[in-house]
Amino acid sequence: MFSNKKCLIIGASSGLGIECANLLAELNVELILTGRDKDRGNEVARNIGKSAKFYQCDITKPEQIDFLFENIKSNYGCLHYAINNAGVTAPRKPIIDIDFLSWSQVINTNLNGVLQCIKNELRLIRTIPGGAIVNVSSCAGVLAIPDQASYCVSKSALNMLTKIAAIENAQDNNNGYAVRINAVAPGPILGGMNSIERLKSNPENTKRKIEVTAMKRMARPNEIARAIIFLLSTGASYMTGSIVDVDGGYSSGKYS
Ligand SMILES: NC(=O)c1ccc[n+]([C@@H]2O[C@H](COP(=O)([O-])OP(=O)(O)OC[C@H]3O[C@@H](n4cnc5c(N)ncnc54)[C@H](OP(=O)(O)O)[C@@H]3O)[C@@H](O)[C@H]2O)c1
Repeated sequence: MFSNKKCLIIGASSGLGIECANLLAELNVELILTGRDKDRGNEVARNIGKSAKFYQCDITKPEQIDFLFENIKSNYGCLHYAINNAGVTAPRKPIIDIDFLSWSQVINTNLNGVLQCIKNELRLIRTIPGGAIVNVSSCAGVLAIPDQASYCVSKSALNMLTKIAAIENAQDNNNGYAVRINAVAPGPILGGMNSIERLKSNPENTKRKIEVTAMKRMARPNEIARAIIFLLSTGASYMTGSIVDVDGGYSSGKYS
């Protein structure tokens, strides 16, 4: 099903992005990996082998996105899949103290940057049948979290963007083939944004992150990556516009 297909991962130099890259590499997918950190990104690609190549790209810089997609078009011709995984958070602050620079950094990455990527991805994916995109949202886009306005708003808007993009691209037409577009909304994941150092530096926040799940634990990265890969697969052929909670029960109830 996946063999020799081409998948772009936006934000593949760390955490969940690396996990997705490794699982897809095992399925013989040709990988186009991106991120801002050239050294880390090149190392990820090197560890996978010749089926993966890293391209440096900061998605808050429209000219870098244009350059990335020109390269993809000339080197690969088309894309079958894309995973929009890049995301950042901001220091926790109530709205009354929020500073506009940090708000903008989060919105420019998690929403505006991802929008620009989706637009360019669609142009390449619509040229072949069976294409799919998965956006990496968050449980923070489903339920409000105090002191995290920029992150919650960016992910909740990403959920709506996912649905609109899905509806607009649900059928073959003069613009090309249909593309299925879904999102995952993970609960707290070990690693990545939740590095051991970060978890240790704020034990109260770490405890809260675990307590708000029904399963009373964080996700292992591959528990999220497998859901993403399912959404790309033909197993999810009737799914589009879905925001799939992969959150250990976080959004199903109130636990504290
Ligand atoms: N960890 C969690 O508990 C959790 C829970 C729910 C949802 N999520 C979502 O899952 C995704 C991955 O999170 P993670 O924990 O794996 O975080 P992470 O380790 O910090 O990885 C984030 C990835 O995004 C890339 N990125 C960030 N800003 C970018 C930019 N301006 N341009 C291009 N790439 C950029 C980073 O690459 P560079 O640093 O090289 O740019 C990195 O590859 C995010 O969208 C996050 O919101 C995470």
